Amino acid sequence: MSKPFYITTAIDYVNGQPHLGHAYEKVVTDVIARARRSMGEEVYFLTGLDEHGQKVQQAAQAEGRTSQSYCDDLAADWKRFAATLELTNNEFVRTTEPRHKAVVQAVLQHLNERGHFYAAEYSGWYSTRAETFLTDKDRRPDGTFDPEYGDVVELKEQNYYFRLKQHQAWLIDYIEKTPGFISPDYRRNEVLGFLKHNDLEDLCISRPAARLTWGIPLPFDPGYVTYVWFDALTNYITIPAALGDPGIPAWVRQGQPSEGERPVGPGLWPADAHVIGKDILKFHAVYWPIMLKAAELPLPKRLIVHGWWQKDGQKMSKSTGVVVDPIKVIAEWGLDAFRYYVVRELDLGPDGNWTDAGFESRYNSELANGLGNLVNRALSMLKRYRLGVVPARHDELASAAQVAILATRQHYEGFRLQAALVETWTLVTRANQYVDQTAPFKLAKDPTQAARLDEVLYNLVEVCRLLAILIWPVIPQTATKIFKQLALPGSPQHLAEAAWGGMASGHTIGEIAALFPRRDQTPKV
Ligand code: MSP
Repeated sequence: MSKPFYITTAIDYVNGQPHLGHAYEKVVTDVIARARRSMGEEVYFLTGLDEHGQKVQQAAQAEGRTSQSYCDDLAADWKRFAATLELTNNEFVRTTEPRHKAVVQAVLQHLNERGHFYAAEYSGWYSTRAETFLTDKDRRPDGTFDPEYGDVVELKEQNYYFRLKQHQAWLIDYIEKTPGFISPDYRRNEVLGFLKHNDLEDLCISRPAARLTWGIPLPFDPGYVTYVWFDALTNYITIPAALGDPGIPAWVRQGQPSEGERPVGPGLWPADAHVIGKDILKFHAVYWPIMLKAAELPLPKRLIVHGWWQKDGQKMSKSTGVVVDPIKVIAEWGLDAFRYYVVRELDLGPDGNWTDAGFESRYNSELANGLGNLVNRALSMLKRYRLGVVPARHDELASAAQVAILATRQHYEGFRLQAALVETWTLVTRANQYVDQTAPFKLAKDPTQAARLDEVLYNLVEVCRLLAILIWPVIPQTATKIFKQLALPGSPQHLAEAAWGGMASGHTIGEIAALFPRRDQTPKV
């Protein structure tokens, strides 16, 4: 049996509230996971939270709480958020869990024993207020530091460094020889450009416990905790290790809480896809591969790098009030309207722009007037003219449907989610045109046209069934509603069932209800 398709999202910083950017990444990853399951593949989908670091420690202190209880409360909100988005994740990893800490420490220990780290003294400008080192790049034109940094002092600090330089040539070669490793291509070129024109600096992988306690202690020096990114990236192998993935070496798995009793779990590693935003590309395309190479672990198969959302052409920020609150949008418009818009509006790669007008326009034209209207008209006419009983099979729209099904499938396979929706909607449009062209409401008035009406109704009801299957990865609630209205057994989650003629003649459909009530009409007074 082949290994499950293992897909991950970035793990979000626990402090702060979930926003559109977080929701987008989780939704597109969920769509990929659902699409592959729908195509018969076994999928393991991981998401979670990044909980260590200075900011969390400071925020907890400001509230007079322990960092752990602060994180526990926020983690409950984030988990609820994942449920609101109806993510089909198999696991939710938190970096404060013992199983994760054990893996991070095992990797640190292993790399240290093999000479990948060295200790060195760093001296530089340090802002106690921001708790960060500053460089000359942070100086203002007049040579001073921004007052927001408070007192800036010269500080000497001993830290541990990871030797990255020696891996630079290998990494360039690997990325060049593995074209699918980073997508889209322009992101791959960006990484190659960076690697070819800069000497990699060794990476500082420690923070003195004197100024940061909220982290994972270095196993070989308790005076330090691990740099958050070293900790966070490792989450991707934590879960495979905790599940007993035979592809993860025993030294990584040692120290796992359930070591011993654990059965051999699914082979998950290497990950098939890490879905990340463009801002964290360097961590995933440079540091993570080098960490894995140094630890002699296989590399993930691909990084899918998405762009950033703006709102009304501006960077989203709480302080300026330019934000999109996904929870609010979902409460007002429904989950599927949100999922549909983000996937349809923004292709995986470029940056996008949210406008409320654009959202409403897609809702009204593509969901309400497009899909919703088609399903409503088809099913109402079947009820009205044939008491809801499906007539004999007829194949007038079969070839249009097969073309859309094939193209949608190919796009899902190639992670082209926006294109998959565009293809699916060609069938929505075709079927709506078909209603206008064949005018079943006129046929119904002419008894000599009864056989023709049967043909038209079969084509329409079969298209509704197929559409439910095609849209399921993106808008599962709507797909399920369509199946229910069609009174079909099972669920719309098997793409193999998207083949013309599946609707049985003589079958009686169920209750009908509007899928997307229109919102653009002025309320009646
Ligand atoms: N904790 C790190 C990731 C560690 S992964 C080992 C982090 N967290 S984050 O909360 O800041 O961001 C999580 C993800 O959300 C990132 O992939 C980031 O690119 C994405 N987004 C954050 N804001 C975004 C937009 N405005 N638009 C789209 N995605 C954005 O980075």
